[in-house]
Amino acid sequence: MADAGAKTFYIETFGCQMNAHDSEKVAGLLISRGYRQVETDGQADLILYNTCSIREKAAQKVFSRLGQFKRDNGGKTIAVLGCVAQQEGERIFERAPWVGLVCGSASYRKLPQLLAELESGKRRLTGLSLDTEETFETEFTRRDNPFRAYITIIEGCDKSCAYCVVPMTRGPERSRTSESVLAEARALVELGYTEIQLLGQNVNSYRDPSARKWNFAELLSAAGEVGGVRRVRFTTSHPRDFTREIVQAIEAHPVLCNHVHLPVQSGSTAVLAGMKRDYTREQYLEKIDCIRCAKRAISITTDIIVGFPGETEADFEETLSLLDYAQYDSLFSFKYSRRPGTSALALGDAIPEEEKGRRLRELQARQRAIQERRNQSLIGRRFELLVEGQGREGQLSGRTSCHRTVNFPRNGSDNGSDKGSVKPGDYVWVRVTQAGPNSLIGEVEGGLLWGAMATQN
Ligand code: 5AD
Ligand code: SF4
Repeated sequence: MADAGAKTFYIETFGCQMNAHDSEKVAGLLISRGYRQVETDGQADLILYNTCSIREKAAQKVFSRLGQFKRDNGGKTIAVLGCVAQQEGERIFERAPWVGLVCGSASYRKLPQLLAELESGKRRLTGLSLDTEETFETEFTRRDNPFRAYITIIEGCDKSCAYCVVPMTRGPERSRTSESVLAEARALVELGYTEIQLLGQNVNSYRDPSARKWNFAELLSAAGEVGGVRRVRFTTSHPRDFTREIVQAIEAHPVLCNHVHLPVQSGSTAVLAGMKRDYTREQYLEKIDCIRCAKRAISITTDIIVGFPGETEADFEETLSLLDYAQYDSLFSFKYSRRPGTSALALGDAIPEEEKGRRLRELQARQRAIQERRNQSLIGRRFELLVEGQGREGQLSGRTSCHRTVNFPRNGSDNGSDKGSVKPGDYVWVRVTQAGPNSLIGEVEGGLLWGAMATQN
């Protein structure tokens, strides 16, 4: 534990789970160098923003944060990490001269050295190389969630989707050895974590660099066999590399959660070609069929972009009809946003914002009706939940293996179970009593399945 006189840091994270996990590693690195983490930027000597540039709005957020300092940063050191750091590089110093460190995620293994230079009084440091070999592994990770732990299995992205900054901001793909992934999983179980989430921009491209040469399905199966792990999730999957073997692994290992996030982006083959997604509507739907035919029901979620350059009304209708076919359990939808350095810039941005907004609303309404119907059909069914925390109106909230949120009363009618003592980290059975489009309400049945231990960090 750092002493009260130790240097303090505050870290704020924008963007995806990869970024959230990077922040956990950066925090761990700082703590092991004697820093103490604080809750507000006002209390901190070192302020770090771990940034996202997937859409313009996300990228703007960091500049509004930086704007609050103006020229006077009160002796604090300000660091910009992550995707905006990589994308904007030294230009950040021009817009915000009070920033001291700009470092992209592909250079994080240089952070100890950069921190040492900052501590010795250096101003204006950058880490912007896109390393092709190294992954970012730390001795200590300061994890935010006491029950679920992220494990990075592959960093970077070798795809070239026309709209996407990620290959530029996170560099080329680098996989970790299966042994180091499994060793981390075993260590996490020892610490009391029960759910593990394997992370990568494209987990299906995983290729074990050791002599085993495992593919993702092989790694996933082995993760499902680590003693003491109760749940394993993975994200994100690119449809082109999504194989039947992955579905078979889920079928064979009950510990592997029955949920696949499979971003489609558009239901029109013409738009998919413009996006350089490397699959057609039909090829994508074959993957959906393969998942739907699994021996146990697997829920499917997706991402969709509306208003990509050239998307006609007929193309958009194809996306709507794809929703009807795929029957997703949940969906993230976005208006196309032009991003610097992407190949889609050359296609212009012909679809007006209002039209993008209309398509987004129509898409969301269509999906809402699908979710409403699918969730209604679950009333009366039993699910195992990992209890996560406070739900609405004093209820507790948990997640099913299929990634649905279920809220349930802390103290329901007494049926002899010990549900009054249910707490975050526990596993319980609930029966669904009500359903809305985005969550379910249930009642605990049969008492505690498994009680959480306190984790050790
Ligand atoms: N504009 C809008 N949405 C985007 N996404 C990625 N790049 C863009 C962009 N330029 C969406 C995709 C991706 C999700 C993480 O963000 O749907 O799957
Ligand atoms: Fe945002 Fe993509 Fe970077 Fe994640 S990888 S932080 S989503 S730009």
